[in-house]
Amino acid sequence: MNIPLVKVYVDDEIKKAVLEVLDSGWYILHEKTREFEKKFAEFCNAKNAVCVSSGTAGIFLSLLALDIKRGDEVIVPSFSFVSTATPVLEIGAKPVFVDVDAKTYTVDPEKIREAVTKRTKAIMPVHLYGHPANMDPIMEIAEDNDLYVVEDACQAHGAEYKGRRVGGIGHVACFSFYPSKNMTVCGDGGAVVTNNEEIAETVRKLRDHGRRDKYVFELKGYNLRFNEIQAAIGIKQLEKLPEWNESRRNIARMYNQALDGLVTTPVEEPWAKHVYHVYVIRTKKREQLKEFLSHQGISTIVHYPVPIHMQPAITSILGAQPALNNTEKFAKEVLSIPMCPTLTKREVEYVSEKIAEFFKDHK
Ligand SMILES: Cc1ncc(COP(=O)(O)O)c(C=O)c1O
Repeated sequence: MNIPLVKVYVDDEIKKAVLEVLDSGWYILHEKTREFEKKFAEFCNAKNAVCVSSGTAGIFLSLLALDIKRGDEVIVPSFSFVSTATPVLEIGAKPVFVDVDAKTYTVDPEKIREAVTKRTKAIMPVHLYGHPANMDPIMEIAEDNDLYVVEDACQAHGAEYKGRRVGGIGHVACFSFYPSKNMTVCGDGGAVVTNNEEIAETVRKLRDHGRRDKYVFELKGYNLRFNEIQAAIGIKQLEKLPEWNESRRNIARMYNQALDGLVTTPVEEPWAKHVYHVYVIRTKKREQLKEFLSHQGISTIVHYPVPIHMQPAITSILGAQPALNNTEKFAKEVLSIPMCPTLTKREVEYVSEKIAEFFKDHK
C-alpha cells in the first residue's frame, strides 16, 4: 500500500465552479468572494470574515488593524508553524514565546499570565492540530490586562470550545485555506474573522492598497487580496467541511483504539471538539518509526521539529530565547501520521498494524 499524508478533494462540481468564474470575467474581490466571506463568517458564528491571500497575511493584517507596533509585545506559543510569530516581527513588535500544555499541545494559560508585561498588547493562542486552546482563562487574562486575543485558527476550521466554534471567541481570528487544511481553496488563501466591525473594515482596506473607494487610499495598504476562483472553490469545500470533520473524528477514534498503549495518542479535552487537522502521536522512537513507516509506503511528517523560539529566523533577530521544556521535548517526539477524510478503514488499519509491528521489535 501507498498512503499519502493528505489528499486534496476536488470533484466535478468544484471544477465546474472554477470554469464558471473563468467565464464570468470577474477575478478578484467580487461576488464569489463576498458570498464566501458571508458563508464563512456564518460558519464561525461571527459577524465578519475578510478573505486575504494567506493565513500569514491574515495574521499580519490583524496585528496592523489592532495597531500593534514597535515596542509592543505579543505572547505566542513556540510550538506552532513559524508564521504564528513572523508577522509579529514584521510589524516591529516582539513575539514573547511561552510553553504549551502537556495534554493538548496548545498554549498554557498559566505561562501566558507569567509572561504579561507593561508592553504586552495581545495574546495569540493557536488551536494547534485542530484542538482548541483553552480560551476561557486566556480571555480572562486578556480582560484583566486590557489585551487583545488573536486566535490563530489556521489549523482548526470547525473546532469547538465549550460548544462554540473557534474564530468567534477572541477579538479576531485568522484561518488558512492552504491545500493541506481541513478545507482549502486549492492554493494560498486565508480569512480574518471578527465580530468587531472596525477591525473588519480596517483589514478590508489594508488588504486592498488601503483603499476606501476606487480612487481614495486612506491607509498605507498592501495587495494581499483574494481571488474569485478560490472563493468559488472555498464555497464548495465549506459545504463539505462538517461532514469531513466528522470523518476525521471517526478516523481518530479508530487510531486511538488501535494505538493505545503503543504511543501517546492525542487527547480531546471534555470542553473541546477536536477536528484533527493532523493526527499526531508521540514516541521517543520517532525517527526509527518514521523511517520504518516510510519503508512500508506510509507517509509521515513532523509538526514541528524545530520550535519557533529556536528558529534561526527568530534568534538572528531576537538572540537566544529562554528554554521551553514541553515544547522542546515534544519537538523531538511528535509524528503526524496519515489523516484526511477520505482515508479508508483498511488504510487506517494498515497504518495501525504497521505501527504495532514496529513496536514488537522496539519495546
Ligand atoms: C498554525 C498556523 N499558523 C499560520 C499558518 C499560516 O497560514 P498560510 O500558510 O496560509 O500562510 C499556518 C499554515 O500552515 C499554520 O498552521
